Amino acid sequence: MHEPHTTPALVITDLRKTYKNKTEALKGVSFTVPAGDFFALLGPNGAGKTTIIGIITGLVTKTAGAVSVFGHDSDRETELSKTHIGLVGQEININPFEKIIDIVVNQGGYYGIPRSVAIPRAKKLLTDLGLGEKMMHNAMTLSGGMKRRLMIARALVHEPKFLILDEPTAGVDVELRRSMWNYLRSLTDQGLTILLTTHYLEEAEQLAKHVAIIHKGELLVNDSMQNLLAAHEGHRLEDIFLKLTTTATV
Ligand SMILES: Nc1ncnc2c1ncn2[C@@H]1O[C@H](COP(=O)(O)OP(=O)(O)O)[C@@H](O)[C@H]1O
Ligand SMILES: [Mg+2]
Repeated sequence: MHEPHTTPALVITDLRKTYKNKTEALKGVSFTVPAGDFFALLGPNGAGKTTIIGIITGLVTKTAGAVSVFGHDSDRETELSKTHIGLVGQEININPFEKIIDIVVNQGGYYGIPRSVAIPRAKKLLTDLGLGEKMMHNAMTLSGGMKRRLMIARALVHEPKFLILDEPTAGVDVELRRSMWNYLRSLTDQGLTILLTTHYLEEAEQLAKHVAIIHKGELLVNDSMQNLLAAHEGHRLEDIFLKLTTTATV
């Protein structure tokens, strides 16, 4: 008997991006994120991570290549490919004058979720993320780490199957980072697919099932974390990352 065929959460094929100022941000990147995966997209600053995420989510237009989200091609089935995605972007982008619960509920509105459904959902998400006592206040009362968590709640309100986070733990202290990673792990335990970028390689090593490392717009590694660590026996992900991204020009 064959295993039932499962469509990957994401397939990107030969993705290229040249910005208007001629910066070649992506030089033909391909990888696949299996459904249910915890996938770490790693690379030094300027490698092209945010550009890839921008293309997947429709915020950046690609120069060439293809993107498919749960089997929906982003050119031919743009809306379908986007409804499955929840995005926590790299920049904090929340209105400081809006009430925290409203930020989450109103986001649901963009996906056609009635307030009667969105309100209890928002309350549960905010409570799970440790913002339960804050939710009737304006967003300006939140610390940086709390704003990141609010962005996660907002990204989940339409119950996407695929959550993409661009450096969600940047500038977040160790303890909070741990609890955020634990929360994300609980989401993948429930079947959600996660792709994230991070500079905390130690945490990526512990949590990610698969990893891609990009450098100057090119893919250097795309493997399971287990295989990658086994291929560099005795080394931590951090050592492997540094070795690959500092010798890639030799
Ligand atoms: N809007 C833009 N216009 C021109 N160049 C850009 C723009 N956005 C990003 N870049 C360039 O593209 C490259 C990749 O950037 P980015 O995708 O943000 O990398 P990362 O997220 O891995 O740090 C960098 O050289 C960056 O300067
Ligand atoms: Mg970035």
